[in-house]
Amino acid sequence: MTSPDPSWWRSAVVYQIYPRSFADGNNDGTGDIPGMIERLDYLRDLGVDAVWVSPWYPSPMADGGYDVADYCDIDPRFGTLADADAFLAGAHERGMRVLIDLVPNHCSIAHPAFRAAVAAGPGSAERALFHFADGRGPAGELPPNNWGSLFGGPAWERVIGPDGPEQWYLHMFAPEQPDWNWANPDVVAVFDDVIRFWFDRGVDGLRVDVADGLAKDAAYPDTPVDPATGLGIASFYPGHPWWNQPELDAIQRHWRELADGYAEHGMGERIFVCEANTKPLEALMRFVDPGRMHTTFNFDMLWCEWEAGSLRAMIDRNLIAHAAIGAPTTWVLGNHDSTRVATRYGKPETGKPFTLGGTPEAWAYRFAEYFWPQPTDIELGRRRARAAALLELALPGTTYVYQGEELGLPEVEDLPDDVLDDPSFFRTGGRIRGRDGCRVPLPWSGTTAPYGNGRDASPWLPQPDVWADLSAAAQDGDPDSTLSLYRRALAIRSTHPALGDGTLAWSDDYPGHVLYFTREPGFGCLVNLSTEPVDLPTGSRVLVASGPLSDGKVPPDTSVWLDR
Ligand code: GLC
Repeated sequence: MTSPDPSWWRSAVVYQIYPRSFADGNNDGTGDIPGMIERLDYLRDLGVDAVWVSPWYPSPMADGGYDVADYCDIDPRFGTLADADAFLAGAHERGMRVLIDLVPNHCSIAHPAFRAAVAAGPGSAERALFHFADGRGPAGELPPNNWGSLFGGPAWERVIGPDGPEQWYLHMFAPEQPDWNWANPDVVAVFDDVIRFWFDRGVDGLRVDVADGLAKDAAYPDTPVDPATGLGIASFYPGHPWWNQPELDAIQRHWRELADGYAEHGMGERIFVCEANTKPLEALMRFVDPGRMHTTFNFDMLWCEWEAGSLRAMIDRNLIAHAAIGAPTTWVLGNHDSTRVATRYGKPETGKPFTLGGTPEAWAYRFAEYFWPQPTDIELGRRRARAAALLELALPGTTYVYQGEELGLPEVEDLPDDVLDDPSFFRTGGRIRGRDGCRVPLPWSGTTAPYGNGRDASPWLPQPDVWADLSAAAQDGDPDSTLSLYRRALAIRSTHPALGDGTLAWSDDYPGHVLYFTREPGFGCLVNLSTEPVDLPTGSRVLVASGPLSDGKVPPDTSVWLDR
């Protein structure tokens, strides 16, 4: 059973399941909920406190399920509502909470409300649920403004009605993902029902997709032109007309009241975590102001170089900003949108996760083809990723672990073009290869694909021939494996009184390229980012190390947890 602690979310380790790629229970090449249920014991034994499930809703899969056709059902590829209930019950029985993805910015063109809007025509109440607008030019043949989509191409798509081309609709992402109009109270009501539907079923929290993009400047002003695309900049900058608009405050406070109602009625905590790339940090902090959301992702670790000074500054910046308003920090090394951490840390540049969106700099990187061929030293990357895991799990706050991080999986960088599925690949004429490389189905066991992920069907993305040693079964009995490291660290974290929520104190006993901090009572974490082995702090005892020590010293790119 889950613990009764109402603050569980302040210190949880949350495991992200990307259902398509996690575990294939019915052997059709796509992961599903029965597969997830089979792996609940694995998750319990790993020692995570909660899981976050990426979208499992009915969807044409134009964006891997982030194009939702029905928010209150399960895609038949993944199973049924009864399967979802069984998964929830099974997770709860094993003491784990369940968060699911809420996708409120956009739905799918297959959603009945969008179909009805297209059919109802200009000026209708149905169209007012979305952003429909007349085009510019004598015949409305130009989009209403210059906005570009985050997946490439214009952010407007023209409706072709029975009488020919007519209005345009807005889509921040793919044309198959029309944006809801959050200025319309009917949209608020639609999502109240969705939120209650899942909270009533026992879901413990919602990860809010594109939480900073829901409200748009109704005047639809042009954005500055991005030279890479010739279209208006889509990614975040302060003042952008669709990111972090003031109306978010009321939307989020309303949701918080809804969630708090459950606790007030003795039904347990319901929480939110925002996906938001808002900058600067002070602006992002408004999302977790009292009365707004519980937590927001902090993607700074994803963007941070594997370098002591940058890491320490990044950690301090976040801890100070969050402590100032009493919200817990979150730590993220990877997710389904970014290059796997073991590969990232094996590149010459370690702070570039190739994500879509993000900063203007990230946008520029999207088009920097030269960046992909950077060589990867995967052994180095994996060693650093293990060290980073101990670092992030020792930090105050909540940690998110993306499926496969615990296996040290690399990015699959050489997927053939004809299997790629990410809309950004198609929308950019192949200039961006997209995010499929971190979504390859997990290897569970066996020596050849599909490595126990299904029996013998070909997985929806092909797995490399060399993944046998990385499977969960292969790592299970090996005390030196990444899986064993995660298990050991999570076991310590779950009982150590110094870990989870709280504070840390830096020690300056070491040279600049070594991070050493302590937490009370009696805990220390040392991360050696220098090129030389360093001594353990006097009088300390190693609880867990991310790699072998050499002559009692901590080698480069290695972390240790200490009893002191
Ligand atoms: C979020 C998701 C990403 C998706 C996008 C549009 O960034 O994490 O996978 O493509 O939203 O829904």
